[in-house]
Amino acid sequence: MNRILCPLLAIFTFLIASNLMAAPSDNFDAAQKYQNTCYACHGTGAAHAPEVGDIIEWEIRLEKGLDTLVQNTIKGLNGMMPPRGLCTDCSDEDLKAVVEYMLESSQ
Ligand code: HEC
Repeated sequence: MNRILCPLLAIFTFLIASNLMAAPSDNFDAAQKYQNTCYACHGTGAAHAPEVGDIIEWEIRLEKGLDTLVQNTIKGLNGMMPPRGLCTDCSDEDLKAVVEYMLESSQ
C-alpha cells in the first residue's frame, strides 16, 4: 500500500510546488503594476503604444498568441516597447499577469 502511495504523494507535492513557482510573486497586483509602470505608454498611446481599452488593436495583437505577446514584453519590441516594459522588479510570470490584465481590460 505504502509503496504505491509514496511515489504518488511525491508526484503531487512536486506538481503543487512547481505550480506555486510559476505563480506571480507574492502580493503581486497586476493592476497596480500596470498603473505604475505600463500606463505611462499604454494608457496614453505615448510612443504609439497600443492603448489599453482599444479592443481592435489588442484583438489583432492577440492573434500572435498570448505567449508571443509575453515574450515580446520580456524582450521588448521594435525598439519602441522597452524590455520588461521598464519593470525592473517584475518576474516573467508577473509580466504575464500584467499582459493578461491589459488584455482583460481591452475586451
Ligand atoms: C516607453 C513606453 C512603454 C512602456 C513603459 C511599456 N510599453 Fe508596452 N509597448 C510600447 C510600444 C510603443 C509598443 C508597440 C511596439 C510595436 O508594435 O512596434 C508596445 C507593445 C506592447 C505589447 C504588444 C506586444 C506585441 O507583440 O504586439 C505588450 C503585450 C506590451 N507592450 C506590454 C507592456 C507591459 C506589460 C508594460 C509594463 C510592464 C509595458 N508594455 C510598458 C511602449 C511601452
